[in-house]
This record gives sequence, C-alpha cells and structure tokens, in this order.
Amino acid sequence: MTEISGVVAVVTGGASGIGRGIATALRDAGAKVVIADVEQGALDRTAEELGVRGIRVDVSDAGSVQALADAVVAEYGSVGIVVNNAGVGPAGRIRDLSLDDWRWVIDVNLWGVIHGIDAFLPHLLANPAGGRIVNTSSMSSFQPLPNLGAYAASKAGVHAISEVLAAELAEDGANVGVTLVTPGGVLTGIATSSRNRPAGERGGLTDIDLAADPTRRDVAMWLSPADVGEIVVRAIRNDDFYAITHPGALPRVEERHEGIRAAFLKYPPIKPRTVEEIE
Ligand SMILES: NC(=O)c1ccc[n+]([C@@H]2O[C@H](COP(=O)([O-])OP(=O)(O)OC[C@H]3O[C@@H](n4cnc5c(N)ncnc54)[C@H](O)[C@@H]3O)[C@@H](O)[C@H]2O)c1
Repeated sequence: MTEISGVVAVVTGGASGIGRGIATALRDAGAKVVIADVEQGALDRTAEELGVRGIRVDVSDAGSVQALADAVVAEYGSVGIVVNNAGVGPAGRIRDLSLDDWRWVIDVNLWGVIHGIDAFLPHLLANPAGGRIVNTSSMSSFQPLPNLGAYAASKAGVHAISEVLAAELAEDGANVGVTLVTPGGVLTGIATSSRNRPAGERGGLTDIDLAADPTRRDVAMWLSPADVGEIVVRAIRNDDFYAITHPGALPRVEERHEGIRAAFLKYPPIKPRTVEEIE
C-alpha cells in the first residue's frame, strides 16, 4: 500500500482534464497537492477552485521541470507522489507531419515524462517514506491507430520507460513504485491541445474532437476526469503498475497480441547458435 494522506503530490498538466481529476482525487485522499501546468490562466483558476498550490511549468523544458522540483522540495521539504500527466493529443497522417509536428508531441509527451523522472526521482528515492511515480500513457500504447503516429510513438515510449523503471526499482529494492495510466476516451480539453503549441512549422497535425463525432458521441465509451482520478488513486493505494481505465478495450489488446503471437509462430525457427559457432 502506498500512503496518500499527508503526502506531497505533484501533478503536471493539473490545470485541466485528467490531471485536474487526479489532483482532485489525491486532494480528497488527503495529499498536499501541487498542480503544475504551462497554461497560467487555467492553472491559477484550477488551483483556486481546488484549493491547492499551482506552479507554472513547461514539461518540455528540462530546466523548467527542475525548477518545479526544487520549488516543491524547498517549500514542502519532501515529495512522495509525482504524476507525469501533461500531454497533447492532436492527430495527422505520418506522411503529412512536419518535423516540428513530431518534435512538439515528443517534447511534451515523452520528454516531459523523462524530465519529470530526472528531476523528481532523486527526491522520491531520498524520501524515507518512499514514493510513487505515475505516468500517463494511453490506450494507443497498447494499440497504435492510424493518424496517431507521433502520439502513439510518444506514449509507447512512456509505456516502455515505465516498465523498465518499475523493474529497475524493484531490482534495486527501492521503496519507490511506478504506475502507468492508459486511458481511452476521457472528456477533457485534449481536443484543443494546439492552444499550448509553441511556434514552429505546422504540418498535418491538427486537433481532433472525437467527442463531437456523432458516431462516437452516442457510444458509451467515455469517462470523466473524476472517474480517472478515482482509478489512479486506487492504483497508487494498491501499488498497481497498470491503472486501466477502460477494461472494455481488452479484446482490442488481445487482438494485437494474437497478431504478434501468430508472427512468432509463422515460420519454423532457425536454430540459434553460440557466438563461437557463428564466428
Ligand atoms: N482525454 C483522453 O481521451 C486521453 C486518452 C489517453 C491519454 N490521455 C492523456 O492524458 C493526459 C492529459 O490530457 P487531457 O486529456 O486531460 O487533456 P487536457 O488538454 O485537458 O489536459 C492536458 C494539460 O496539459 C497541459 N500542458 C500541455 N502542454 C504542456 C506543457 N508543455 N507543459 C506543462 N503542461 C502542459 C495543458 O495546459 C493541460 O492543462 C495527456 O498525457 C494525454 O495524452 C488523454
């Protein structure tokens, strides 16, 4: 069990959507919550509405994330839960993407998580009470779909880093765990992600609003940020690696795994040899 009550918890992307839902649930579970976000106006509003501390951060900037960690530790003395959640979710076919399209998505979604781990892991490891890193990936890390090339690449990276970090921390006997959040559809501000996009050459990457699509609007596939917050708090409490928000998506994951299994079994194996036999 990871203790939440009284623990200092930082949530990036906490001004809106899933981050706000996680911050609310952590606050309700008794954590001292700090939300961090690039969007100053939304950050100030949400911090006031939730009654939590707000600190501006740009997760794509290593120095900005380090300054966040320094400020939190200077103010509170320790940190126990870090939720690397800030992200952007526009879509576009790979053939249409500019390099700046790729860079923006990877900078925020993948480097943002790397920066969070780099800046906060030493503090979590130094915390005698231990701690937890929570990374927000996506269903697209289980099932990469067309139009989500940059997004799925970033989220697959977050998935892999989280698995490796969890295994390394367990090997090291560290009192720090990892939770990976893999949402499907959640009603948030993700459909207007480009509001936070810095300057650069814009290619075929555009915001998509799945919730406005009549064929999806009427499908009961959506969760609220509050639902996700509850699921994440449950996963933290129970030291779960996966915080699965949309278990109904399991058949799609199994279908992909079936394809991988079939590829492994398609041809008779070439008998592996020793180094000496090959040299
Ligand atoms: N909404 C979904 O259906 C869904 C599904 C799977 C995964 N996710 C993931 O959930 C996370 C949260 O997204 P959301 O859906 O709540 O969207 P959202 O737009 O409501 O929230 C994202 C937050 O991240 C902030 N942000 C963006 N760029 C930033 C930066 N450079 N530095 C700091 N903060 C930044 C935004 O200001 C915003 O407050 C993302 O990682 C997203 O990829 C969302």
